[in-house]
Amino acid sequence: MSKRFYLTTAIDYVNGKPHLGHAYEKVVADVIARAHRSLGQETFFLTGLDEHGQKVQQAALAEGKTPQAYCDEMAAAFEGLAARLGCTNNDFVRTTQPRHKQVVQQILSELYTQGHLYKAIYEGFYSAKEETFLTDKDRRADGTFDPFYGEVVRLQEENYYFKLKDHQQWLIDYLEQNPSFVYPEFRRNEVLGFLKNNILEDLCITRPAARLNWGIPLPFDPDYVTYVWFDALNNYISIPAAQGDPGVPPAFAPKGMTSTGSLSLWPADLHIIGKDILKFHSVYWPILLKAMGAPLPKKILVHGWWQKDGQKMSKSTGNVVDPLAVIDEWGVDAFRFYVIRELDIGPDGNWTDAGFRARYSAELANGLGNLVNRSLSMLKRYRNGIIPRPSNELAPDAERVISETSDLLENNRLQAALQAIWSLITRANQYVDHTAPFKLAKDQAQAERLDEVLYNLAEVCRILAVLLWPFLPETASKIYAQLGLAGLPDKAHLSRWGGLAAGHAIGTPAPLFPRKESPAEERK
Ligand code: MSP
Repeated sequence: MSKRFYLTTAIDYVNGKPHLGHAYEKVVADVIARAHRSLGQETFFLTGLDEHGQKVQQAALAEGKTPQAYCDEMAAAFEGLAARLGCTNNDFVRTTQPRHKQVVQQILSELYTQGHLYKAIYEGFYSAKEETFLTDKDRRADGTFDPFYGEVVRLQEENYYFKLKDHQQWLIDYLEQNPSFVYPEFRRNEVLGFLKNNILEDLCITRPAARLNWGIPLPFDPDYVTYVWFDALNNYISIPAAQGDPGVPPAFAPKGMTSTGSLSLWPADLHIIGKDILKFHSVYWPILLKAMGAPLPKKILVHGWWQKDGQKMSKSTGNVVDPLAVIDEWGVDAFRFYVIRELDIGPDGNWTDAGFRARYSAELANGLGNLVNRSLSMLKRYRNGIIPRPSNELAPDAERVISETSDLLENNRLQAALQAIWSLITRANQYVDHTAPFKLAKDQAQAERLDEVLYNLAEVCRILAVLLWPFLPETASKIYAQLGLAGLPDKAHLSRWGGLAAGHAIGTPAPLFPRKESPAEERK
């Protein structure tokens, strides 16, 4: 069986409700997954949850629940969000699942046996809030630690370490020889800059069970549990391993399992993450994989962070965008559209409610919605909903956009792909204005011209459904249904010009994006 295109998101912490940042990353991944499937590539999309660690233990305690009961409740909320977003993930990993824990323990045993781990005493600073050790280098100019770290205490503790620093030069060489490993390029430069200007410390990969027991026990020393990042990063390979993936080194397959070869995933083709966890993914993870003797993922796609109204979203200021509330009010595709159209993958973005409404109204209601509605309504009114003889006046415009969109999608340039698609919408709306079918309809001598115009418009609507499928699946399906077409517009080859046959009867036109009154009008 051939290897699938395997893409992942970061796995979310469960110590708070899902928010815009979590939803954004899933939409990015889902658009890419759908685009690959649409091109006929077998695809496996993994997302899930990072459930261990001190913060979860504390959050559970604060609610008087066991950590597992707390995680189960949060997992329902996060899985619910993925479903509401229309995510087509093939699996949902939870780091508390036995299938994950078992593989992590095997990786630990294997690394320990091979001498990649050692035990040592650490004496220094520790931030309980961030569950991390700090050094003097982390102090600010005035000698204090950033309040982000909460209370920082001195600590003496024995732990297990992974030999990270032995591989520093190898990683620098790897990043230099594989310029596409981290995208966008400025993020790759950031990693290289960090590696060239700092000496890597070995990575502490445990916490004493006496201090933290909500974690995976070390198979060779039950007095310790695995540090969250070691646990979490391995989800990307534990799920393939648990399914018998032949791409995972056999030492990590669950005991007694022999590869069936039926699901070939590893190495991952794409890890999608936010900028704050770049170091974990582009430094720790590749080195860990190298030590494990496993091939490296092909690419790490790093997106920026959303702010709300120019400020960091935070529970304390109450300016958190709740994706579910937006979806309830505006529909899932309006949410998917806004986040992808507004923010290119790379820089930070800013959510404003006014910006959201403006895009909804200009691009969805007046742009796409109006085009489809008036094209199909005119076809219904003037030709009884029957597709006329094919004509290809707009074919060159459509073909240009189809090819641009496919190139852009191949390079994960999602925002630019939407812009390309919208250039076809704008072109078709202008075509309506220039050809004025409502005038042609009044003149019997123009009947043939009206046929041509109506065909071009209906065919552009059909092609738009195919192009929009990865981004706005619900809308794309509605356009197909209104065109009276069976099945889904989920295959890129369907976008070839001329798919609508003369004599085909369309369905019933209905507005795709109902116009909403602005808050000022609502108050009147
Ligand atoms: N559990 C770790 C990831 C482990 S991956 C092996 C974690 N979880 S998180 O819940 O804090 O973040 C999950 C993802 O959401 C990360 O990629 C993070 O960058 C992203 N976002 C969290 N807040 C965000 C915004 N405000 N904007 C965009 N994405 C953000 O980190």
